[in-house]
Amino acid sequence: MKITIISGSPKGEKSVTLQYLLYIQKHNPQHTFETFHVGQTIKSIEKNKPKFDEIIESVKTSDAVFWITPIFYFLIPSQLKRFIELIYENKAEDAFKNKYAAAVSTSIRFFDTTAHNYLHAVCDDLKMKYVNFNSLDMWDMFSGSKRKQLRLFAENFFSIVENKEPVSIQYPPLSTDKIKAYTPGEAKSKVDNSDKKIVLLADGYNKNTNLGKMISRFSDSFTNDIQIVDINQLDMKGGCLSCIRCGYDNKCIYTDGFTDFWKTTMKNADIIIFAGEIRDRYLSAQFKMVFDRSFFMNHTPFLIGKQMGFIISGPLGQIANLNYLFSAYVESQNSNFLDFITDEEEDSKLIDSLIDTMADHSITYSNQGYIRPHTFYKEGGMKIFRDDVYGRLRFTCQADHRWYKDNGIYDTFPQRNKFVNRMNRKFMFLTRFKSIREKVYREVNTEMLRPIHAIAIDPDK
Ligand SMILES: Cc1cc2nc3c(=O)[nH]c(=O)nc-3n(C[C@H](O)[C@H](O)[C@H](O)COP(=O)(O)O)c2cc1C
Repeated sequence: MKITIISGSPKGEKSVTLQYLLYIQKHNPQHTFETFHVGQTIKSIEKNKPKFDEIIESVKTSDAVFWITPIFYFLIPSQLKRFIELIYENKAEDAFKNKYAAAVSTSIRFFDTTAHNYLHAVCDDLKMKYVNFNSLDMWDMFSGSKRKQLRLFAENFFSIVENKEPVSIQYPPLSTDKIKAYTPGEAKSKVDNSDKKIVLLADGYNKNTNLGKMISRFSDSFTNDIQIVDINQLDMKGGCLSCIRCGYDNKCIYTDGFTDFWKTTMKNADIIIFAGEIRDRYLSAQFKMVFDRSFFMNHTPFLIGKQMGFIISGPLGQIANLNYLFSAYVESQNSNFLDFITDEEEDSKLIDSLIDTMADHSITYSNQGYIRPHTFYKEGGMKIFRDDVYGRLRFTCQADHRWYKDNGIYDTFPQRNKFVNRMNRKFMFLTRFKSIREKVYREVNTEMLRPIHAIAIDPDK
């Protein structure tokens, strides 16, 4: 059997993820593997059509494809995203049709799920036979039981391919049939933004497209100009190289204008709007590059306390994963999520009123300092970061470590909570005795509620 490996890591041969594929290869010498480092060589693949064709030819002559990738910012690296776009731009989808596929990633498992959902959906769109994914921790190689699971994953995959087993489709094709031309109406009552800095990151600003019209209509909802930044004009020489030089002091190895832009324009904004078109199952690779490059701040929330909204052209309503991903992104920045406005609405008037409402809320909530309480996204994500930055990432991510110390992130370790420790010591001891145990379990709910209820009904609080 021949397997094409499409590797998304910008590190090429030095990719951690690649090592897991080398391991699979070692245990399956009966198969032939051909690897393409698309993440590392994307610029030359873009410019050099024969290079792209060579990959497509390999896919055509393969029985299966392994997508292997690090997780970057809730997804895959911009470089691999760009490769997926090139498949469509070069009309090479047919090469992938009916090929069996699996995805292997390494990460610290912070939003690996959204990345795998994305890859699965892309495979379904390409009419591949997507079998399974394997989301590995960077260090799983050190564990015998994890290696065993990896061997089984590969064996099962090869067996499914050999036996030509059927696979189910999880993501039906997207439809843009309902999206109509948007005709904006006039913005009647404008919102006063004189003391607010509003930055709108736009993936192109063509005033004739639905996206361009929604951007203009949003801008017109305010008394004063807002800052519209076309991400295609940003001084950004390339995607994140994953060199982790930024780990020591948040300095990016690139000397282009991106870091300054993020530290000044973005950091100083009160309100940030992201505006782009759906490209496959995300926004464009260029947008992904913006998020990836912001990794120079590593695992610290940087755009704290902003109001963030999204203006999107395309079938966002059919891509629940993207909704989930961006909501999680906003929370991870300690910011407030405003809305997703898309051109999927039936009626242009409704889009106008949604835009007016988002404009109004952005200013009101910014004045109030309102941030919707966070959910599992930030709670869970921050605990993963806290444990890893305190632990194995500490010496590489020293800037994070300093920030976490200064901002009390380590104080949230449960073992540091004196009150909880005292309570547990006391009740662990007392509940050894049957009669006390019964009393405790009889009364635990009432006792737990008592202090919370007292504040809930306290007229002074
Ligand atoms: C720009 C950037 C973004 C990252 N984003 C995530 C992330 O969202 N979730 C996660 O668990 N790990 C994230 N990581 C960590 C990588 O996924 C991890 O180090 C991976 O093992 C690297 O694999 P590679 O050596 O094959 O490139 C990120 C790393 C970089 C450089």
